[in-house]
Amino acid sequence: MSRVEAKDIDWENLGFNYMDLPYRFTAHWKNGEWQDAGIVEDSTLHISEASPVLHYGQAVFEGMKAYRTPDDSVQLFRPDQNAKRMQSSCERLLMPVFPEEQFVDAVKQVVKANIDFVPPYGSGATLYLRPLMIGTGEMIGVHAADEYIFTIFAMPVGSYFKGGLSPVNFITSDYDRAAHRGTGQSKVGGNYAASLLPGDRARKQGFADCVYLDPIEHRKIEEVGAANFFGITKDGIFRTPKSPSILPSITKYSLLWLAENRLGLKAEEADVYIDRLDDYSEAGACGTAAVISPIGGLQHNGKLHIFYSETKVGPITGELFNTLTGIQFGTVEAPEGWVERIL
Ligand code: PLP
Ligand code: COI
Repeated sequence: MSRVEAKDIDWENLGFNYMDLPYRFTAHWKNGEWQDAGIVEDSTLHISEASPVLHYGQAVFEGMKAYRTPDDSVQLFRPDQNAKRMQSSCERLLMPVFPEEQFVDAVKQVVKANIDFVPPYGSGATLYLRPLMIGTGEMIGVHAADEYIFTIFAMPVGSYFKGGLSPVNFITSDYDRAAHRGTGQSKVGGNYAASLLPGDRARKQGFADCVYLDPIEHRKIEEVGAANFFGITKDGIFRTPKSPSILPSITKYSLLWLAENRLGLKAEEADVYIDRLDDYSEAGACGTAAVISPIGGLQHNGKLHIFYSETKVGPITGELFNTLTGIQFGTVEAPEGWVERIL
C-alpha cells in the first residue's frame, strides 16, 4: 500500500480502514529485554516462518484513539487503562509485558510523529492507535516464543458501524466467540479469528454484526461483535452484562461511571436475558471503535425486537454519547485522570 498524504484525506467520510501512515513505534524483545525501541518508517514486519504468532496465535492487541480538541490541542482518553489491559492480555498468553509508562509514552510518540493525520475537530473523526504484540523467533513446539515484536501504528478513522450514531440492527449468533474460562477477557487475536464466520454470516443477512450469547446456556447477552452491550431498562437503569468471557471494555466502564455520576441513573453490571428484551427501552453497543452505536433492533429466533427505534436515537443513549464524546474531544469536563493532553 502506498503512503497517504494528509492533504488527500476526506476527513468527513472516513470509515474504519487501514492507512499506511509515515511513522510507527516498534520495540523488539530479545535475550529477555526490550531493545531498539523507537519510531520507525517501515510498515512491514519481518519475521521467521516459525514464529509462534503464525501457528499458535500468540498475538495481543489494543485499540485507542487520539482526539483533536476545539483549541487544536490533541488528547488521549484513558491510555493507562489500555496499557493495563494489554499487560493482562500478555500475561494470559505468556508474553512479556511492555511497561505502562513506556506504553503511554510510545503512544504519544506515534501521535506526535503523525500529528498531521489527527483529524480536525468537528469532523467527528479521530486518530485510531493499534498497539500490537506478537510472538516471533523460531519456536515450532507449542511453547511461548522467545522473541517478540511490540508495535503501535495509527490511522485516521470515522465510524466503525456504518450508521455512526444512527441505529443499526444485529442478530444473535449460534456460535460462541470465547469460553468462560478461555481468553474472552483478553484482547487476543484468536477471539477475533473465532468471530469472523459468525460476523460474516450476520452481515450477509443484512445485519451490522452479531450478538454473542453466554457460552453455557445461550440465554444471556454477552457482546455485540467487537463491542460491549448496554441497555437502559424501562425504569431507567443503565445495565451492562458481567461475564468472564467478555472483554472488559474501557468505554463500558466509563459509561457505567458517567451514567451514575453525570446522568444520575442507577448503573449496574448484571445479567441481560435474551428473553427479557421488553425490559429495555434503549440499547447500544459501546467500544473504542464503535464509540456508542444505538441498537435499533435485535433479531433472535427469527423475531426482530425493536428497542427505541430503528431510525432515531433514544434520549439516554444520546445523552451518554454527548457526555462521553464531549469528554474525549475536550468540550465536557473530564473526571480526574481520564484525558491526557499530548500538545
Ligand atoms: N469487546 C470487544 C470484543 C472488543 O474488541 C472491544 C474493542 O476494544 C470492546 C469490547 C470495547 O472495548 P473498549 O471500550 O476498551 O474499546
Ligand atoms: C476497538 O474498539 O478498538 C476494537 O478493538 C474493535 C476492533 C477489533 C475493530
